[in-house]
Amino acid sequence: MLVVDLGGQYSHLIARRVRECRVYSELVPHGISPAEVRARNPAALILSGGPASVYAEGAPRVDPGLFELGVPALGICYGMQLMAQELGGRVERTGVSEFGKTVLRAAHGALFEGLPEEQTVWMSHRDSVAAPPEGARVTAGSPSTPIAAFEDSERRLYGVQFHPEVVHTPHGTDLLKNFLYAVADAAPTWTAAAVIEEQVERIRAQVGVERVICALSGGVDSAVAALLVHKAIGDQLTCVFVDHGLLRKDEAAQVIETFEGHFHVALVHVDAGARFLARLAGVEEPEEKRRRIGEEFIRVFEAEARRLGRIRFLVQGTLYPDVIESGGEAGVAAKIKSHHNVGGLPAEMEMELVEPLRRLFKDEVRRVGEELGVPEQMVWRHPFPGPGLAVRIVGEVTRERLEVLREADAILLEEVRRAGLYRELWQCFAVLPAIRSVGVQGDERTYGYPIVLRAVTSEDAMTADWARLPHDLLEAISSRIVNEIPAVNRVALDITSKPPATIEWE
Ligand code: XMP
Repeated sequence: MLVVDLGGQYSHLIARRVRECRVYSELVPHGISPAEVRARNPAALILSGGPASVYAEGAPRVDPGLFELGVPALGICYGMQLMAQELGGRVERTGVSEFGKTVLRAAHGALFEGLPEEQTVWMSHRDSVAAPPEGARVTAGSPSTPIAAFEDSERRLYGVQFHPEVVHTPHGTDLLKNFLYAVADAAPTWTAAAVIEEQVERIRAQVGVERVICALSGGVDSAVAALLVHKAIGDQLTCVFVDHGLLRKDEAAQVIETFEGHFHVALVHVDAGARFLARLAGVEEPEEKRRRIGEEFIRVFEAEARRLGRIRFLVQGTLYPDVIESGGEAGVAAKIKSHHNVGGLPAEMEMELVEPLRRLFKDEVRRVGEELGVPEQMVWRHPFPGPGLAVRIVGEVTRERLEVLREADAILLEEVRRAGLYRELWQCFAVLPAIRSVGVQGDERTYGYPIVLRAVTSEDAMTADWARLPHDLLEAISSRIVNEIPAVNRVALDITSKPPATIEWE
């Protein structure tokens, strides 16, 4: 399935939803030619939403030849209006805009098969289709948008004014399934097992008998990428785990246990904590901390790689959103994730990249990880910055402060897991600010560290809301932290959303 990206904010989401229906989908630029589409041989096209109006200056268009290919097409919102305009219908600014939930009535039509006649849908448009394309019939309407869907079942061209891809359209996924399975005849075969099978073949074809190296970070992307490659080529892969000493409690041990103990991957474990701490001594400025950690990481990794002899390939856990963000196919091969993400390729190493995740969204990586047998804790680990706990220690990172934060963080996580809330949160972690405050413990006044608790819900980290953790849970966390960590005499809770705050403190 090709999702023709007309610039709408939900284009990625359409591709993800289609994949959730187990049909492989990719975003393509709206300039794609009919010949290119024919060469890709998709089961169908979906035209995404886009800017405000088809009449706006520079509004994105598609080659009308796309509709002559005999490939089924579904236009969503702007995509629908563009279809109407290109195919002999009419689009007008009626003066009535529709933003938000509305009630849709659909009595017939292939897209609405098996759905209730009345349903709630999400609208976001100013212009409306005033006349459907020639030969198409209107299949649904809302109070302010009489032409809210059309279909031309002969040419298999469909349009919906609302957004079936957002959660505010409860039957949206059912509608997409109708389009995918019934109209486009696409089988639901895109599964984690199928991804693994396909990638294993690709990796074998790419690397042949050559050796491959992979940097492990403890995160899910590098773990799944490495295990996919290991499944494909076994001992030709060596993983290098640069342990910078800034991971959470027990995480380093878990990486070693999983890779060496469980999967029998050839693993080089570099216990570099002391080196990193030495490089961080006296550094308070956040960007400088990140810079030094990134630089040191590359230095250590390079030294290990050199020790292993000539290696031609490097595994990287690049994901599909990275590929899209960096302008798609051409741009991305050369582009390396920014320095603070472990796994970055040092420029002078000149290795070829193996990127088995570059077609996958994060949730798909997790499903592949589960299918491969990666432990639950690793698969579902919350996002974690490459420079690790250094980002969560405001001011200087010292061994003592690292220990304090690591313990507090472990208590927080343990209690959140015990309460069954870990998977509901985007992230939760402890922060150590660069101050001390007065307390009283026993008969003594103390001058100790405060710990700040940060827990947020989010869809994509672009915005976030502070999580309303139950008071009982907060109490348990607070009293355990001050009782179990002598250096801490106060626990505070960050109740700021993003924006205006960020998720991390640095
Ligand atoms: P902020 O603090 O900007 O963070 O709201 C947004 C998201 O990015 C994560 N983050 C990082 N992820 N390497 C990463 O892979 C990093 O260096 C890094 N720094 C922040 C952060 O945890 C949050 O999820």
